[in-house]
This record gives sequence, C-alpha cells and structure tokens, in this order.
Amino acid sequence: MNTTVTGFPQSVKIVEVGPRDGLQNEVPVTLEDKIKLINSLSETGLQVIESGSFVSPKWVPQMAGSADIFSRISRKTNISYPALTPNMKGYEDAIRAGVDEVAIFGAASESFSQKNINCSIAESLQRFEPIMAQAKLENVKVRGYVSCVLGCPYEGNIDINNVVNVAQTLYQMGCYEISLGDTIGVGTPQQAKAMLQAVAEVVPIEHLAVHFHDTYGQALANIYACLELGVSVIDSAVAGLGGCPYAKGASGNVATEDVVYMLTGLGITHGVDLTKLAQAGLDICAALGKPPQSKVANALAAKS
Ligand code: HMG
Ligand code: MG
Repeated sequence: MNTTVTGFPQSVKIVEVGPRDGLQNEVPVTLEDKIKLINSLSETGLQVIESGSFVSPKWVPQMAGSADIFSRISRKTNISYPALTPNMKGYEDAIRAGVDEVAIFGAASESFSQKNINCSIAESLQRFEPIMAQAKLENVKVRGYVSCVLGCPYEGNIDINNVVNVAQTLYQMGCYEISLGDTIGVGTPQQAKAMLQAVAEVVPIEHLAVHFHDTYGQALANIYACLELGVSVIDSAVAGLGGCPYAKGASGNVATEDVVYMLTGLGITHGVDLTKLAQAGLDICAALGKPPQSKVANALAAKS
C-alpha cells in the first residue's frame, strides 16, 4: 500500500464524477455544454472523468445522449472516461459508443436498490454477471459502486455488514475498484472510518474509493478521516454538482476544487491544476445558471 508513516497516502487519484453524478441531477444542459465541460476537465490533469450513463432515459433524462458525448469529446490517451452501465443493454450501448471502462452500481440498501434500478440487491448482482463476463472477454475495466453505505433515504441506518457483503461480492466478481458511496451525505467521520475499516478487511484498501455527497457538510471531514486509513482514490464533482435522482434531498458530491485544495495543504500529490479546474466549474455553472457549490472556487473567484 502506498502510505506514509502518518497513514496518509503519498498520492491520490481523483475520480471526477461531475459530468455524470453531477449533471444527472441538475437541470438539463446542452450536449455542447457537456462536451465543453469534459474537454475542459481533460486539460486539468485529472486521470479519470466519468462522462456519461447508459441508463434508461425515462429514468434519468439528463443522461440521454451519452453515446453522442463519447463520439464527440476530445479524448486524451492518459485519461479514462468511464460510463455507468446498469445492465447488458447499457453495457452493449456503451461499448458501441466506444467507452473503454464501465461502472456497475449496486446498493447496501434493498429499498434504494428497488427505487434506483428496479430490482433487489441479489437480482442486481445477477444482472452484473453477464456484464463482468463480457467485459473480461473484451478487456474492459469495470468499477463497482456501492450506494447508501452510511444511510438510506428510505431505510435510515444501514448495517455495515450489508456494505461489506456487497463490496466483497463486486470485488470477487472482478471489479478492479469499489467506490463506497454516501449517497445522501449523512455520514460523519467516525462512521465513515468504521465503515471503510470493515470493508478494507475484505477488499484491499488500494482497491477502494470513497464517494461522499455533502448534504450535511461532512464530506471533507469524512474524506480526511478516510485518508488517515490510507484510502487513495476519491470521487468528487467539479463545482460540487449534482445529487442523486433516487435519493430525495441528497445534495451534490463533494467539490473537486475543495478536495484538491485540501490535498495540496496536506502535501498529498494529486496532479490537478486548481485554476483550470475552477474555470471548468465556473463555465458549467454559468450554463446551469447557478453558482458553484465549492467554497474554494468561490474564494478564488472573489480574489480575481
Ligand atoms: P426497468 O424498467 O426495470 O428495465 O429499469 P427493463 O429492462 O424492464 O426495461 C424497461 C425499458 O427501459 C425498456 O424500454 C428498455 O429498453 C429500457 P421500453 O420498452 O419501455 O421503451 N432500458 C434501457 N434503456 C436505455 N439504457 C438501458 C436500458 N435498460 C433498459 N441500459 C433500469 C431498469 C436499470 C434500466 C432503470 O432502473 C434505470 O435506468 N435506472 C437508472 C438509475 C440511475 O441511473 N440512477 C442514478 C445512478 S446511481 C447513483 O447516482 C449513485 C452513485 O453515484 C453512487 C452513490 O452516490 O452512492 C453511483
Ligand atoms: Mg453519487
């Protein structure tokens, strides 16, 4: 594991989820605005930019047109541009569109699984099996998400064992990385740490990512707590965009600008140019007609 004596990792990979997790829960923007966002983010040093979602447009209209995004963005060879694929149809559409990495998404809550993807946790894991088999044949990397790891909008508290079981299953199925999502942003640092520690007993920590929404303003504190355990992959969205369409009241992801600023202060390498990142955030927020939900972006804008 890539850690210093303090437990902090020496470097962190940021998975930018703004164009997907962000825009899926904002007012719709044009295809051109989405492409401009992804192209701008591609100039910031980010290594991973989640760029779309091959889900039913009846369920998430904001993600319609993801195939066009992949055919029109200026892809850089050193950046991965994954997309969400809930089932074989999504996987096949994604591959046809030229996606080279996909993400499957399960949940630690039965009710959330039903509301989000219209099936039970066990059924969802079955649906993922053919995706994993085909992805293996085609050498396509698959990331796995577990939602509701610190609470569910329908069930409240979630048993850590459910999180551990789903994360372990996704890892054993062949996902190279498991992202642990506090979908509704309710967790606090000690809870986040306890959850991560429990999962890290069955999935090596270098294969785990943390994914915090900032509904209760705890996301950065939770990330700091998880960094102390050595986690080295963090999901975030430029300008703190988004939420989750099936988690009422969930606010956006932690803002990438704020994560980058904190990592710099901690001396942890991240490779992202904060000025360019903040500009990408301002531009998409102008298209959305709202200010960035990033303290850092707003502070930088006030200075200039
Ligand atoms: P279903 O209705 O059970 O599916 O939905 P179905 O197989 O019965 O098909 C119904 C219709 O959907 C059919 O069309 C299919 O062709 C179509 P119709 O005959 O009615 O015209 N369909 C599709 N269309 C496009 N792409 C597809 C696809 N599959 C079927 N892949 C389904 C099941 C999974 C499709 C649906 O529930 C769905 O699309 N859900 C998406 C939910 C979603 O995207 N949620 C947000 C992402 S998760 C998240 O944000 C959390 C995360 O960020 C982590 C965290 O924060 O914790 C990842
Ligand atoms: Mg999310």
